Amino acid sequence: MASRKLLVDIHTHVYLPRYASLLRTRTSVPFIRSSTTRDGKSEERLLILDHEPSGGRPVGPQYWDREEKLKFMDRHGIDVSVVSTANPWLDFLSASQAQILASELNDDLEQYCSTSPDVPDVSIKRLYGFGLLPLVPDITTASLLHAVDQISNLPHLRGLIMGTRGIGKGLDDEALDPVWAAIEKAGLVVFIHPHYGVDGKSWGDKDNGHVLPLALGFPFETTIATTRLILSGVLDRFPLLRLLLAHSGGALPQLSSRLASCIDHDPVVASRLKHDARYYLGKLYLDAVAYGPEELGFVSDVIARSKKFETGTSVTGSLTRSLGSQQMLFGTDHPFFPPLYSTETWKSVVENLEAINEVQGWGQSDKEGVRGGNAITLFNLTK
Ligand code: URA
Ligand code: ZN
Repeated sequence: MASRKLLVDIHTHVYLPRYASLLRTRTSVPFIRSSTTRDGKSEERLLILDHEPSGGRPVGPQYWDREEKLKFMDRHGIDVSVVSTANPWLDFLSASQAQILASELNDDLEQYCSTSPDVPDVSIKRLYGFGLLPLVPDITTASLLHAVDQISNLPHLRGLIMGTRGIGKGLDDEALDPVWAAIEKAGLVVFIHPHYGVDGKSWGDKDNGHVLPLALGFPFETTIATTRLILSGVLDRFPLLRLLLAHSGGALPQLSSRLASCIDHDPVVASRLKHDARYYLGKLYLDAVAYGPEELGFVSDVIARSKKFETGTSVTGSLTRSLGSQQMLFGTDHPFFPPLYSTETWKSVVENLEAINEVQGWGQSDKEGVRGGNAITLFNLTK
């Protein structure tokens, strides 16, 4: 194993060639369309959101070409990436289409990772992956369990990415219990990632590009989905589930005491959960895609504080943000957020690295953990 400290990116996406080809055949969201720019060049644009702002986003090989991913990693000193299909995954397909494509894309991603180069001097690959489940309405439980089994047998896939809709009724749907059980048993990490945002009417009628859906809609969607998951008792029934939340868990860390208080004062919910709501924050892993040291420090405080709510343990050590940092992991969100003007390194990446470096109260080993050590442990990246 490496003695040098590795930089590991756990929030980095791809539209695998098979998936990008499918998007090119479509004419409604999600789709990729070709157009000609004012200066006569042809370009492709990605339209994935309802009421997609600004005619979609320009896309190119960064979104599907593995060589581009590796070049991006080299440019930013990233040793290993744990790559996931980007939103909206298989959400728009029928059950039978989703089932076939999930299986094909899981195999494609295994191939993408297993044939990637080794990290120099270290016997691990540069690419690992999160697989996909065919989480769409009308899918059978057997098909979902089959996909969990497939992923757990593909050696370079170490988890799976999912949106917030489950099989149509959200992640608090009891029909998902057998799936959580299988994921927990297989030890796969579940990366929960937003796509739909919140009701677009809240955004008003000014053209603010993608700012409101991405800066606010995405994190609020994650906040709501995870809160519902907690309220439904999933984390009580499956205490070993390892959930990784995108964008530092949205607003959940900020709202967790309010959530606890609302639960305590609600006759419908007050006695439903085994623990204070704040306890469940400590069961989560959060990416460090927050762009500022103050936010990262705060999130790590909230994770550390959750240990106070563990029943049967009297916490004696100090609940420092150093403790909380152990559940936070560096990410880039590549290939999203490219610089508007060509630069050697991407501001979105540099900012996240600088933020990790500047958190007050995180020591050197905490920062190294967030940059890579925590990911090596969580995804067992030693082989
Ligand atoms: N925009 C997206 O659509 N997805 C991401 O993951 C990030 C930005
Ligand atoms: Zn993302």
